[in-house]
Amino acid sequence: MKKILVTGGLGYIGSHTVVELQHSGFEVVIVDNLSNSSLDVLEGIISITGKAPTFEKLDLRVKSDVSAFFKKHTNIDGIIHFAASKAVGESVTNPLLYYENNLNTLVYMLQECETHKISNFIFSSSCTVYGEPDSLPITEKAPIKKAISPYGNTKQISEEILFDVCSVSELKAIALRYFNPIGAHETASIGELPIGVPQNLVPFITQTAAGLRNQLSVFGDDYPTPDGSCIRDYIHVVDLAKAHVIALKRLLSEKNETNLEVFNIGTGKGTSVLEVVSTFEKVTDQKLNYKIVEKRPGDVISVYADTTKANEILGWKAEKSLDDALISSWKWEKKIRNL
Ligand code: NAD
Ligand code: WQD
Repeated sequence: MKKILVTGGLGYIGSHTVVELQHSGFEVVIVDNLSNSSLDVLEGIISITGKAPTFEKLDLRVKSDVSAFFKKHTNIDGIIHFAASKAVGESVTNPLLYYENNLNTLVYMLQECETHKISNFIFSSSCTVYGEPDSLPITEKAPIKKAISPYGNTKQISEEILFDVCSVSELKAIALRYFNPIGAHETASIGELPIGVPQNLVPFITQTAAGLRNQLSVFGDDYPTPDGSCIRDYIHVVDLAKAHVIALKRLLSEKNETNLEVFNIGTGKGTSVLEVVSTFEKVTDQKLNYKIVEKRPGDVISVYADTTKANEILGWKAEKSLDDALISSWKWEKKIRNL
């Protein structure tokens, strides 16, 4: 049985990926410092899969602790590195936190890969590396624009670090550029758990419907899009999780064509903010209190993926619909609020 280390494995995308890894017969070791997650997530994973992954609380910023971890946990066949800070606004006010947590931790992980001869590495990148694209849908060949936020910059620099390390070592890496992950596991045993006021659209919608927030602000309705609101590519988190398992199998079977491969992971379909709102209302039978307000600074107008490369080379395709995702998000929100 192959042993996979999942950093940030109690987080939103990490926890769904751990479930899919266990379903596919991998042995999973999770490290997480619980800065944006809780131990309850472990119970959620166990309730779905019936198997307890190994868990160790570890802060990847502490280099000596990271080294000690790798001395204790030997025979790791691959790493999926989710651990990072991800709040775009916070990265503007506290850039050093982001450069430390997103870059130092990556460097420490790659140093351990070199020391312990671990050659399979999957990295969480983001469509944020594209900025405002020149043409749509976006292929992996699109230029990387100057990052709008320190968070986005950490993802660009991380990809450069991976490229440089892969060029001179045995490391084989896949960077998956996620578009907008939404939804929850269909069992509602795990899902997204934003701390404080959600910054992302779907958790804000579900919290508004649940009565935790008074009103959803829709940021702008006069963009040059069909209904005037921004367009994104919303990908179900379970589809996204499955992409990691497929990418990992590609590395383990040495099917990769270059030492660093990059794939867009989205649905290929653009959906506007107002379409998300109306779809949520339709599939949940909830009336959502929302108001059009000023544009949010830094928002790109329209972003959606060309997924041809992932479809053809990885053999992965998003299977779930926006309806599925919003139904699962609402089921999860109701469960955690005891509604
Ligand atoms: P998340 O915050 O839910 O999960 C990240 C996990 O990493 C958390 O459990 C957190 O406690 C842990 N963590 C953070 N710093 C750590 C450290 N120093 N040591 C150990 N654990 C640490 O975030 P997510 O949405 O699951 O995102 C996972 C990855 O995907 C991140 O790298 C993120 O930047 C990237 N990503 C997310 C999105 C998105 O919209 N959610 C989109 C594109 C890329
Ligand atoms: C989606 C749309 C908002 C909240 C962010 C990061 C990106 C990536 C994914 C990590 C936008 C609108 C939102 C609200 C709204 N993360 N909106 N009212 O901005 O596409 O991407 O998460 O890599 O890097 O920037 O996602 O969910 O914040 O917004 O109208 O209360 O919803 O303007 O058009 P975004 P989001």
